[in-house]
Amino acid sequence: MFDNSPVLSICLSCCDGREAVFGSRGGARLAQEVVAQVEGRTGTELNLRGVQCMSQCKRPCIISLSGDNLFTYVFGDLDPKNTGHFEALFELIARYETAPEGFLKRSERPKALRSNILGRLPPLGSASSIVTPLDHIS
Ligand code: FES
Repeated sequence: MFDNSPVLSICLSCCDGREAVFGSRGGARLAQEVVAQVEGRTGTELNLRGVQCMSQCKRPCIISLSGDNLFTYVFGDLDPKNTGHFEALFELIARYETAPEGFLKRSERPKALRSNILGRLPPLGSASSIVTPLDHIS
């Protein structure tokens, strides 16, 4: 289904409070905008998928960035109309693609997304120094 490029998942169900104005959910509008932005860029290798609720409903709109043997990041409070969020997102993806295991410290993530982070999960089998096996603790 996907190639080895990062996977950007977008919650299509998120509501941003402007559904009556636009006639569609914030998450769906965010996805439309991301698709349009990806199509308009060269050199962005990315797999896109929509998800019906990512269980972070109190912080809409929600996305995650993941990949094989890569850290998974979850971001919230994204605004489908905020061009700064999109610029930051593509900057983040470019850094993510080249970082070992996709690991990015807070200072390495674009400022516009720093307060939006909801989770950073290491891949299974991660060699990252932030992961400590607990199988020898009794
Ligand atoms: S509706 Fe988007 S996370 Fe639940």
